[in-house]
Amino acid sequence: MVKASFFNIVRFSALSACVLVGAFIYWSLMYLKPRMPSEVVLERKTEQRHVIFVKVHKAASSTVQNIMLRFSLARDLNVLLPLDARNHLNDAGSQILPHLVVPHPTGGRFDIMCDHVIFDESIIAPYFPEDAVRVAIVRDPLQQTLSALTYFTHVFQKPELKAGLDRYRDAPLEGFLGHPEQFYDPSQGAARSYINNRMSVDLGFDLRDFETSKKNISKIRAFLDKLEKQFDLILIADYFDESMVLLRRILNWGMKDVMYLEVNTAAGNDKGFQDSNLNQRPFLNSTTMLAFRNWAAIDYALYNHFLTVFLNKIEKEELFQEEVNAFRQARDSIAKFCVQVIAPLPAHNRSISIAETQWTDAFSVLESDCKLMAKREVDLMALAIENQKARIKTSKGDTSLVSKNDQQSL
Ligand SMILES: *[C@@H]1O[C@H](CO)[C@@H](O)[C@H](O)[C@H]1NC(C)=O
Ligand SMILES: *[C@@H]1O[C@H](CO)[C@@H](O)[C@H](O)[C@H]1NC(C)=O
Ligand SMILES: *[C@@H]1O[C@H](CO)[C@@H](O)[C@H](O)[C@H]1NC(C)=O
Repeated sequence: MVKASFFNIVRFSALSACVLVGAFIYWSLMYLKPRMPSEVVLERKTEQRHVIFVKVHKAASSTVQNIMLRFSLARDLNVLLPLDARNHLNDAGSQILPHLVVPHPTGGRFDIMCDHVIFDESIIAPYFPEDAVRVAIVRDPLQQTLSALTYFTHVFQKPELKAGLDRYRDAPLEGFLGHPEQFYDPSQGAARSYINNRMSVDLGFDLRDFETSKKNISKIRAFLDKLEKQFDLILIADYFDESMVLLRRILNWGMKDVMYLEVNTAAGNDKGFQDSNLNQRPFLNSTTMLAFRNWAAIDYALYNHFLTVFLNKIEKEELFQEEVNAFRQARDSIAKFCVQVIAPLPAHNRSISIAETQWTDAFSVLESDCKLMAKREVDLMALAIENQKARIKTSKGDTSLVSKNDQQSL
């Protein structure tokens, strides 16, 4: 008897629970209209044409710059560029000198930025519409610094780095990582150095008391919090394809827009590194690694923080790895095609078609696309600058204002 009524109660509770859950699901479907995964995937939003990309040094950022400039050229957008392809918008300080940039044809706001800067929100923001998406990229600090060390001793020589290498001729890598401060001229300041937490310098870390700041956890924390607010997306060079797919999704760009050729990747740029004796990696003992970690403390905090943010973001995306795979497959076909058309051999095909995927439209890549993707950084910058200067002469109008209505906010 007691047992029976107990089961009755259980049965009754189970029944009411089912009714309640059912009612809730019905109500949710009717009133909350949850977005089904297929709807999210198939939705085609307006592409975002206002992008501020901070080209952080030695972090595969030339490849992203190539992507941004090709996008701008294809759509005839206004790009904030230095007057001379050998210069940058700024380098040793955060000011942008108006007489050193190509002016906007009608004095309006620019659509795209993708050059080296020392980022200062209050200086950059006035050049762009408010809805501009702010993007940057970071890379594993050890790889990033070794890449800088190679570049600035092999391609573009810096005397203080050369002097450091000469001092540790027998074991340059151990010498550098164990004593990075001996490869640096403190009188020049962190903004003129490319091996002293340059990623954080590029993103606007306070340069005063720089060496003491490396131990100031609260100051570093405040810097990361500021970046969280200022940037919509921080890409990770070590997850480059994932970064391109996430960038594409956030900007609502096509697969073709974020396509690239390996020639411009960090690996390609690090050719000097591969050829040099710096690449003969000895066993790095814990003392050496600790010395480098202390030296690059701000960049390590930056990288670790935004790597976690990035991995969390891609984990929440639908069918993300599937799209990365489709992207890589398309890139392999395009790379094979481009090698064939760029080579001085007579080419058989002058375009390649990439089929539609569930994420992006079909597209074709022409010989001219290959050539743009393979262009050296300085040559593509020169082309973009020439194009931007021609806009002043023909005064094609302010696309940043015209396209305002088309923009979807993020
Ligand atoms: C750390 O940085 C904060 C904020 O810039 C500053 O107020 C504080 O005095 C610094 N602490 C030390 C120990 O330097
Ligand atoms: C680590 O390597 C450096 C450079 O080769 C050397 O000077 C140092 O004594 C080593 N430290 C340890 C704990 O082995
Ligand atoms: C070249 O074109 C033919 C015919 O359109 C096509 O079947 C073939 O896959 C193409 N080859 C490459 C490498 O794109």
